[in-house]
Amino acid sequence: MRALIAAGGTARRLRPITYTINKHLIPLANKPMIFFAIERIVNAGIKEIFINVNPGEKEIQNFVGDGSRWGARITYVEQTGGPKGVAHIIKNAEHYMRGEPFLFHLGDNIILGDLRRFVERFERENLDALFAFAHVRDPQRFGVPVIENGKLVRIEEKPLVPKTDLAQTGIYFYNDSVFEAVSKIEPSGRGEYEISDANTFMIESGRKVGWEEITGWWKDTGKPEDLLEGNQLLLNEVLQKEAVNHGMIGPDVVIQGRVQIGRNTTIWDKVLIRGPVSIGENTVIKNSYIGPYSSIGNNCVVENTEVEHSVVMDYAELRTGTRIVDSIIGKNAIISNAKNTLPLGHKLIVGDNSQVEI
Ligand code: DAU
Repeated sequence: MRALIAAGGTARRLRPITYTINKHLIPLANKPMIFFAIERIVNAGIKEIFINVNPGEKEIQNFVGDGSRWGARITYVEQTGGPKGVAHIIKNAEHYMRGEPFLFHLGDNIILGDLRRFVERFERENLDALFAFAHVRDPQRFGVPVIENGKLVRIEEKPLVPKTDLAQTGIYFYNDSVFEAVSKIEPSGRGEYEISDANTFMIESGRKVGWEEITGWWKDTGKPEDLLEGNQLLLNEVLQKEAVNHGMIGPDVVIQGRVQIGRNTTIWDKVLIRGPVSIGENTVIKNSYIGPYSSIGNNCVVENTEVEHSVVMDYAELRTGTRIVDSIIGKNAIISNAKNTLPLGHKLIVGDNSQVEI
């Protein structure tokens, strides 16, 4: 079996963060989001991976490389004509994928747990397609299955009045019959080739389609609190097994719970860190409190600041004399204390589409 990861698209909802970083590279638990998809695919025994990218994309290739660090082989497929819909990704990659069943994994979806049972079921039951569904609070934002008398009859894309609280997650398994489906559908009202229409085509044309419910799923919606929820979910999972300290810790530093600290990071003076927390490499933390569900990136400085339930990206500097909660701080951002410079007041240089609560 092979895998195809979707990593193109426009990511408008995550601006301003996505002005300078591809959405799939946003760090969660201090790792680019797409790494979690790759790891889970490799853990399911799949080593031949294709990644769909926007035309001209280079950043993903630079970060992810050829797959050798996971013992896998990664090939990049440019989506001809740009992002034209999730089903178009499959249509566009047919040349690479045809001939072997594949797992189609949307790169902005985080799935906890093992995908192996899906692979096994898909093969054992000789299915044409297998989908993962999950219960959600807001099904109208997703593909929503219509199930009648226990039978899956179609999938409606972003219905105004969803028939259930189940949603299609970004995990799909297919054999070659999907290529007929993606070639038969027309663009939807919003101008995209919808994966739900291709899936409905497969169901209605009598293909053998299975589905399973999963728990432990995260999908961003573009609001900061959603990214923070993903970070929280992953910190919980990752730090179960990998909470290692490679840093240099001063005598007045107190570390409680699961805390991961990267190489060459220095933590000194009075500091309390209460996990789950992940701190990257070459970072300095001094006279501060880092609270649960925080990820601090590489090469950051945190001084005289309290941080909780936040994501701080690489090279950010926080010297605030105050408390920062529920926040996403982008790369190279500087937040400092205004107390000693006149005139008093908040002095802000805030990029387009930013969101600040003061
Ligand atoms: O996340 C699950 C949902 O994903 C499903 O419930 C929906 O049925 C499915 O249509 C899709 O909906 P979204 O509106 O969330 O799709 P989004 O535009 O966010 O794209 C999903 C991923 O695919 C994301 O990683 C970006 C990538 N993508 C998207 C498009 C439209 C591409 O690589 N190329 C594209 O043309």
